[in-house]
Amino acid sequence: MIKKYVFGTPFVTDSVVADIPADKSALPYFSITSSSPLVLELELSEEDAIYGLGESVRGINKRGFIYKTYCSDDPNHTETTASLYGAHNFIIIEQGERMFGAFFDVPSVITYDVASTYKDKLIITSDNTDMNIFIIDGSSAYDIVRTFRKAIGTSYIPPMWAFGYTQSRWSYATADSVRNVVKNYRGNNIPLDAVYMDIDYMERYKDFTVDSEAFGDLSEFAKEMKEQGIRLVPIIDAGVKIEEGYNVYEEGVKNGYFCTDEEGKPFEACVWPGMTHFPDFLNPEARLWFGEKYKILTDMGIEGFWNDMNEPAIFHTRRGMDKAQEKIKEYSTGEFTIDRLNELKDLFGGLQNSQEDYNSFYHNTPQGRFRHNDLHNLYGYNMTRSAAEELEKTDPNKRYLLFSRASCIGMHRYSGIWTGDNHAWWSHILAELKVMPGLNMCGFLYSGADIGGFNFDCSRDLLLRWLSLGIFTPLMRNHAACGTRNQECYQYENTEDFRHIIELRYRLIPYLYSEYMKAALSGDMYFKPLAFEYPDDKVARHTEDQLLIGNEIMIAPVYTQNAIGRYVYLPEDMTAVRMSCGELTFEDMKSGHHFVEIPENEIVFFIRCGKAIPLCKSAQNTDSLNRDDLELIGTGNEYELYTDDGISKDYNNPSNIRTIRK
Ligand code: NOJ
Repeated sequence: MIKKYVFGTPFVTDSVVADIPADKSALPYFSITSSSPLVLELELSEEDAIYGLGESVRGINKRGFIYKTYCSDDPNHTETTASLYGAHNFIIIEQGERMFGAFFDVPSVITYDVASTYKDKLIITSDNTDMNIFIIDGSSAYDIVRTFRKAIGTSYIPPMWAFGYTQSRWSYATADSVRNVVKNYRGNNIPLDAVYMDIDYMERYKDFTVDSEAFGDLSEFAKEMKEQGIRLVPIIDAGVKIEEGYNVYEEGVKNGYFCTDEEGKPFEACVWPGMTHFPDFLNPEARLWFGEKYKILTDMGIEGFWNDMNEPAIFHTRRGMDKAQEKIKEYSTGEFTIDRLNELKDLFGGLQNSQEDYNSFYHNTPQGRFRHNDLHNLYGYNMTRSAAEELEKTDPNKRYLLFSRASCIGMHRYSGIWTGDNHAWWSHILAELKVMPGLNMCGFLYSGADIGGFNFDCSRDLLLRWLSLGIFTPLMRNHAACGTRNQECYQYENTEDFRHIIELRYRLIPYLYSEYMKAALSGDMYFKPLAFEYPDDKVARHTEDQLLIGNEIMIAPVYTQNAIGRYVYLPEDMTAVRMSCGELTFEDMKSGHHFVEIPENEIVFFIRCGKAIPLCKSAQNTDSLNRDDLELIGTGNEYELYTDDGISKDYNNPSNIRTIRK
């Protein structure tokens, strides 16, 4: 049961698609301790748990920190980072027998003090007092998630090829460098489905252009790659370069499609291309116009995109830079003290993504003119929506790959997300594991982190261990920043170790895809915390470094260096499946605690008691998988398989479900 409580006159975010009438009674559960700012409080006991908040740091149970839901381009994903790229205002509160969900539908920042300042209080604060609050009652966490997901609409479904292993780097700057990547993967027999094109494929970072000197004719190149079973996936950035003669810039200015400054002129900010304007994605006409540009690339044979820098990220503005330069002038005489140095550091550091800038531009929406910061969290969402709406028109029955960096609930209907600029740190394997269930709760099923880590050099052991988690994430992409060491699997010794792990991913695709589709179509979770599945098992409730994937398997990845294995808690009897040198062996294990040895080139995962999963044979890419030739493993005798062509959108055809038996 879901109820809507209306405060003030909320901006229509389109996060919720169900038509839910306003409930006139008082908001249940929370006490309202202030109406401006709006402050809600909830008493907590020590055992109460708070789940959710989508893309955020720390645990699956969010207790013990102050989070802010504000789409942020912050590459420092540490345990004290209050906001990441997504703003996901859905939580589930579990208080003994009482359990409910709450969704705060507001496009600006909210602060959640989750038993941090006071260990017995959840305090939610929003300066914006115009908000819809949805309260969801249910009998279990899954039940609440299902009701919520029904209200916000079906999650994005990617094409089957997007479940393959994919390689990225900032940047493969020429067609030849992409060819070289493909040649090496194919040469080493490591499966591969796509290569990403980062900003250097463009002509001076101008969206919807191609640097023809470096990439020649992109249509020809996309065709050549497709013949080798590889899709090319270009990046699209939010900022449009200011350049006379550049059609996107000129059309945007002529039609008033860009966000405006205080004086009504197109707002200017520096991003990769230099000075840019930001398309006003909250204006439906501008959204339509920008979306239509994706056709330039789909006409060249492109079948997938990643949308970036859409918080939107701002390096600096002229106003900020002028102020900083003034200060330098002021300090050019007199003693240059440490205080002055620190002041300048802060001043220059603060030029990026500054609140002053976010407060100084405007959107022209059907609901009126709004200051950007009041709608901030809708920006990336609506950029991605613009792409998705166009792709839907381009070929209504074809699935495209689409994922975004910034997001907000609602965008989950249009695309997936990746978790942005992580680091080649061991702790970021665990961070990925922990963030996934929260994302699923908010509808984001197609997701994954940069495998190997985006920033810093990735060592061989780190990449192997990270891939061991990555084979279970729907988006499986190895991506790295410029300046870091080459991170493709073939850059490390004993490439067969990488091949074996990635081949296992391909063997698992019938299962992973089937579980993904079931979760997407029924509003279930693909990544499940043990606490949701075994709520009466105290140890399981507090085990946050293992997850269930779909209904049949449990994973317990290694996320520490030099480990020879790890402790695993089995809440029930399970079959351990071990992949060693490409061969699978099975061991039935009793419930309880175990130390499981897992060398870095092996994978162990667990099939639940009485369940079975399908495996196919591996192949060089998803298109060449034989998904009809399946073997069932596990102690169960049958598995309910969801299968379809992975291309078109006939999702609910009853023939897509079939039971396969041993
Ligand atoms: C920031 C993105 O998060 C990263 O993945 C990308 O490589 C760079 N922008 C350059 O486009």
